[in-house]
Amino acid sequence: MKTYKATAISPANIAFIKYWGWKNENDKALILPANDSISMNLSNCLTTTTVEFSPHFTSDSVKIAFFGQEKREATEKQREKVLHHVNRLKKTGDITLPVKIVSHNSFPSDAGIASSASAFSALTAATAHALGFAWDTKKLSIETRLSGSGSACRSIVDGFAYWQKDTNSENCYAYQLKDETWWDLADIVVVLDSHSKKISSLDGHQLATTSPYYQVRLQELPARIKKIKQAVEGKDFTRFGTLIEQEAISMHAICMTSQPPLFYWNHGTLEVILALQQWRKTGLMGYFTIDAGPNLHIICQKKDANILNQRLQALNNVSFTIVNTPCKGTRIIDNHLF
Ligand code: DP6
Repeated sequence: MKTYKATAISPANIAFIKYWGWKNENDKALILPANDSISMNLSNCLTTTTVEFSPHFTSDSVKIAFFGQEKREATEKQREKVLHHVNRLKKTGDITLPVKIVSHNSFPSDAGIASSASAFSALTAATAHALGFAWDTKKLSIETRLSGSGSACRSIVDGFAYWQKDTNSENCYAYQLKDETWWDLADIVVVLDSHSKKISSLDGHQLATTSPYYQVRLQELPARIKKIKQAVEGKDFTRFGTLIEQEAISMHAICMTSQPPLFYWNHGTLEVILALQQWRKTGLMGYFTIDAGPNLHIICQKKDANILNQRLQALNNVSFTIVNTPCKGTRIIDNHLF
């Protein structure tokens, strides 16, 4: 009997302009962001996912493995989100068979990296391919966005991505700003010793409009986006670094002033920020950005990555680091995981 199987590999991405919040409840259901966002793919934070629909399976199964760990059953919450997405895609085709999904992450589970971006872009591409859909990157990006992990739609394209907001789902997708060879940047993910309770991005998106400064942020963004685009196009690193820090602080200011307030940073976050400011005074240039957690991404020029990485690893609160460069987006590969 015929089976339907495909494997995709996909990177996580780091946002230089952050997706943070929706305008209204309807936007929430369709993952239509309140603002455009810009990101870069991360070469060493990859998810590989194999999806197979087969009459040999008696029920659906979802297994996940992180670097250095055994493959295990997905948690109930993960399973629900994954199968909800796959079943939605399945409904648009002719196949009604049970599915087996196995996923492997190239990074540890405690890295605090948005594994959902690499996971849901790989899952969408592998599922679509297994179902025989011949989708272009625009359609893949739209369908990945609808998984619920909006930022995953930026991982589909190579290098640097621009996710445009729109009130119409069909026009809300990510496209390539520049490919992965454009700029010799590195992103050092700095993982802190952190046992603090995780606060999801979902909580943050939901609460964003309760901050009295949210409208101010939305008004400021078009100008900042324009400047960041120019800095990427002109490879103006100092300007770029200054702007991405402003943007990260703006997003976290919204979190801290939401009602109730959300604090993603911890004391280790501040230790790294202050160290970076000192190093910059001596000419060692690295700039931070921070997603929905205490860990930082230090963006630097590739030539400075080694020395910065050594210095970061020597800080008190740093547990480990992962050095990335820009890379290709989601791809279908031949090596299946089972
Ligand atoms: C701070 O809703 O895409 O990373 O929790 O991974 O599904 P998941 O996140 P998502 O929000 C991402 C928020 C952000 C900023 C960004 O990546 O644009």
